[in-house]
Amino acid sequence: MAKKKFAKESATIMTEMVLPNDTNTLNNLMGGKLMHWMDVVAAIAAQKHSNRIVVTASADNISFKQPIALGNVVTLKAQVTRSFTSSMEVHIEVSAEDIPANKSIVTHRAFFTFVAVDQNGKPIEIPEVIPETEEEKELFDGALRRRQLRLVLGKRMKAEDAHELKSIFNMK
Ligand SMILES: CC(C)(COP(=O)(O)OP(=O)(O)OC[C@H]1O[C@@H](n2cnc3c(N)ncnc32)[C@H](O)[C@@H]1OP(=O)(O)O)[C@@H](O)C(=O)NCCC(=O)NCCS
Repeated sequence: MAKKKFAKESATIMTEMVLPNDTNTLNNLMGGKLMHWMDVVAAIAAQKHSNRIVVTASADNISFKQPIALGNVVTLKAQVTRSFTSSMEVHIEVSAEDIPANKSIVTHRAFFTFVAVDQNGKPIEIPEVIPETEEEKELFDGALRRRQLRLVLGKRMKAEDAHELKSIFNMK
């Protein structure tokens, strides 16, 4: 049985500056560039938790409400919320900072799922997560229903088997 690890052991912070090559014609960060950075920071967090090669299995819905401007400094924080057998959910928080204006805002939050694999790409068992803080415990508790929702949407689980998900709708 794989050993347990604290959620904080996977904490990863990545900082980038939005350069001209990263922007659209309105001089805002391209969505695809941001998703690339999110994938990288989350993969590092997943590797830290599992000490394995990891592959991206899914990225939950990401909406781009807030543009990030050219010259802003983007900080991406990632941490594993919960692990299952070979998969783990990673929470990512993105903030954008206009340093000369001394302004910083959280622009995005997202959940990515990674699977730890062996050299042949076969899923492999990983350690359980021990949440400690209130936020870690809240993310840990919600991870099961988010997993069931993404597996149902991905046609990997039957809706009638998603018990945790059904319980929030008071369905039998
Ligand atoms: C992810 C991958 C390893 C799963 O392999 P698989 O043969 O389907 O394995 P399984 O059905 O045994 O699933 C393994 C785990 O992945 C999870 N999983 C598979 N697809 C998933 C999805 N779309 N979303 C969330 N989790 C998923 C399963 O729930 C399972 O989790 P668990 O072990 O914690 O219960 C495989 O599909 C793969 O290699 N995909 C390509 C990954 C990749 O290249 N990513 C980069 C994209 S360019």
